[in-house]
Amino acid sequence: MSDSGSGELRAWWRSAAIYQIYPRSFADGDGDGVGDLAGVRARLPYLAELGVDAVWFSPWYASPQADAGYDVSDYRAIDPVFGTLAEAEQLIREAHGLGIRIIIDVVPNHCSDQHPWFREAIEAGPSSAARDLFWFRPGRGPGGELPPNGWQSIFGGPAWTRTNNPDGTPGEWYLHLFAAEQPDLNWENPKVREEFEDVLRFWFDRGADGVRIDSAALLVKDGELPDFDEAEPPVPHPYTDRDEVHEVYRTWRALADSYPEPRALIGEVWLPDAQRFAAYLRPDEIHTAFNFAFLGCPWEADALREVIDETVAVHAPVGAPATWVLSNHDVPRHVTRYGRADTSFNLDHRQLGAPTDLALGTRRARAATLLSLALPGSVYIYQGEELGLEEIEDIPDELRQDPMFFRTHGANLGRDGCRVPLPWEGDESPFGFSPPGATSEPWLPQRESWRTLTAQAQATDPSSMLSLYRRALKIRRETPGLGDGPMRWLAAPDGVLAFTRGDRFAVVANLSGKGFDPAEAGADHRILLSSDPAYTAGELPPDTAVWLETA
Ligand code: GLC
Repeated sequence: MSDSGSGELRAWWRSAAIYQIYPRSFADGDGDGVGDLAGVRARLPYLAELGVDAVWFSPWYASPQADAGYDVSDYRAIDPVFGTLAEAEQLIREAHGLGIRIIIDVVPNHCSDQHPWFREAIEAGPSSAARDLFWFRPGRGPGGELPPNGWQSIFGGPAWTRTNNPDGTPGEWYLHLFAAEQPDLNWENPKVREEFEDVLRFWFDRGADGVRIDSAALLVKDGELPDFDEAEPPVPHPYTDRDEVHEVYRTWRALADSYPEPRALIGEVWLPDAQRFAAYLRPDEIHTAFNFAFLGCPWEADALREVIDETVAVHAPVGAPATWVLSNHDVPRHVTRYGRADTSFNLDHRQLGAPTDLALGTRRARAATLLSLALPGSVYIYQGEELGLEEIEDIPDELRQDPMFFRTHGANLGRDGCRVPLPWEGDESPFGFSPPGATSEPWLPQRESWRTLTAQAQATDPSSMLSLYRRALKIRRETPGLGDGPMRWLAAPDGVLAFTRGDRFAVVANLSGKGFDPAEAGADHRILLSSDPAYTAGELPPDTAVWLETA
């Protein structure tokens, strides 16, 4: 990695294109049907050719995999299903050799119920120091048979599970905002804070260039554990607006900035309110956070323009770069979302199984790619979106793995559909995901129709989604004005989004139902790239975006 002298330039995350690897589903090196680090290492040249600046890994730590690795039992070890610590170190070195930075996922809100701390807490019993690392409380009602409060798990059902005392009698309850296998840690306890600082140092010292902070807003709870109306949560919220969480991030920021090349702190902050979201991005806190407002926005020009303006407006006062995200491992893939009658998304409105027109969704996804890669700040690409993969919605129940599916008794199909192993090459499953002679099938079934969407099939087709991403990322890197920096809207009719970056670059996205000639939005231009490979000049068809070099 070449270090530049200036602090501004070293803040590479301000403009980076960051590719998310979901390790179980990226590439399987050892043939057990589950992705691993050997698989990733073999595919690093693919990522270099794609043109991404960094890779973020969903958790690779030792874990019972009750929530696909987001239940960590040892933050300093790699899960044997993925490989070894030595391999992770090797991978970081190899990625750096290709100019790719590595971001790892740190999961501070909760650990696994198999983590030594939690095992010890269960054995030590009520009022022990070991229990103070978590949220153990007696139950309500006679005999304590009711949970301590009415908080609900984000995965469905109560956020509390009752334990047995060491003598086998029913005992205290513990808090888990996610699955019961993910007990929440008590961030008021200094030992928890010290431990995570040490974990960060452990990985930063091994060359990790940054961390993605899982569930970053949830860490600190109101110690009174007040009941509240989930439909209309109060502000301040009992676990997303606590002042103490900002203390934690100030400490982390000082640590990240103490490295010769500062490490990036990237927050997963799901908050409906932009101002509260921006509070996490103050100059001495998290560097940058995922823009879920953009991800959830319907494919409509007015709504998108509003989200873009609000995003830019809330980031400016805190000096943080905006981010642009279309998909990740928690949401239905956007090719599918954009083909639906209602193209919006939010966590309580997942619309899984709603009818979709994949051709339309793909057309819009291509335009959305050119729109988001042109916006100011950094951009995230979820593995497989560059192949145009759709959400797989008909996974048989017995193969589903997501705790969200089980905790809602199937009412919520959960997130498995965006986690299906990638198709790399060949005409049939496992499509090169696993090596020849693999002993197991891919852990979730792939689509037969993906034979036309393999990386291999798309690599040589100039009109493929993969070619669009490769060309767009190359232009994005080479064009001054793209990435971090200002944008300026151009006058355009209803349904059209048009803006400039720098002196000679403009993007025009036509979301209206009729053709629009980009010449009307600006002066002379040359087409650099179009989301519709058939478009060469004149009226831009609906659901198409173009990148222009302006005179
Ligand atoms: C985050 C992760 C999600 C995980 C949850 C609990 O939202 O992105 O995948 O299930 O936190 O760790």
